[in-house]
Amino acid sequence: MYRLKHNISSTLGLIILYIHITDTRSSVINDLALGFTRLPFNKSYYINHKPYNLPLEERYSFINGVHKLWVFSTDEPLSRCSPTLPRSELFINVSVGYIYFTGVWQFEAHVFVPNGTTGVSLMQVFGGYPHVTNTTLMVRVYDGNLYYYKYEVISSDMYDKWFRLNVIRDVEGDTVNVYINGVLKFEGQGRGGAMHYFKCGVYAQDQDSYYMESRWKHINIYKKSK
Ligand SMILES: *[C@@H]1O[C@H](CO)[C@@H](O)[C@H](O)[C@H]1NC(C)=O
Ligand SMILES: *[C@@H]1O[C@H](CO)[C@@H](O)[C@H](O)[C@H]1NC(C)=O
Ligand SMILES: *[C@@H]1O[C@H](CO)[C@@H](O)[C@H](O)[C@H]1NC(C)=O
Ligand SMILES: *[C@@H]1O[C@H](CO)[C@@H](O)[C@H](O)[C@H]1NC(C)=O
Repeated sequence: MYRLKHNISSTLGLIILYIHITDTRSSVINDLALGFTRLPFNKSYYINHKPYNLPLEERYSFINGVHKLWVFSTDEPLSRCSPTLPRSELFINVSVGYIYFTGVWQFEAHVFVPNGTTGVSLMQVFGGYPHVTNTTLMVRVYDGNLYYYKYEVISSDMYDKWFRLNVIRDVEGDTVNVYINGVLKFEGQGRGGAMHYFKCGVYAQDQDSYYMESRWKHINIYKKSK
């Protein structure tokens, strides 16, 4: 009897221990905010980039917490003389202190890309030298797959579903990591450039579709606590 009780209680103990371990482990993997401080992010913290000749509401809406950004391949660039392709993007307001030269910074958002949108950059870590795009990272969409530029698939089959995107840029460590739904999917290196900030939306690249759209909600900017 003693032995049976002992066995049952140690088995229960092991089960509880096991649950505890797996629980801790999964929360560590999923909690990308651990060790980071979330910074304020509202309308004062971003500026829209859009075709220079159009009113904002023709290429952007913000309804029920969802930023919808869209552009056509025949649109004008963000300024009259810019050689760049059309875009509708949220760009960090340079006046609010989220442009960084040091530290570990994180961008987080829930993203939706409708079927058909292709040949487009969804998200950028701006700053990279010497590179034509001046970026450390572009998360692009080609035919429903997320890409690191056009070099490497980050995640496949991403049309018509909300997913969580986290990008962590470690300036001193010179890394840039991309997580999809909390899972590390891409580990990259820096690409030079001293100054960085985040951008998101749609920015035409190559073989872009006539219509490009992405939707964003729960956008958060984090900085690693010292
Ligand atoms: C944006 O956030 C800042 C900092 O928390 C706050 O002072 C400001 O009132 C907010 N603005 C809006 C429009 O919510
Ligand atoms: C950018 O930030 C500055 C400083 O907080 C603020 O005065 C300005 O209105 C902001 N710009 C936009 C377009 O929100
Ligand atoms: C996207 O649309 C095309 C054309 O209508 C269709 O063939 C394809 O199955 C769709 N893909 C997804 C993931 O819904
Ligand atoms: C990259 O930076 C250079 C130098 O500042 C600038 O002339 C060029 O227009 C930038 N290109 C893009 C795509 O932003």
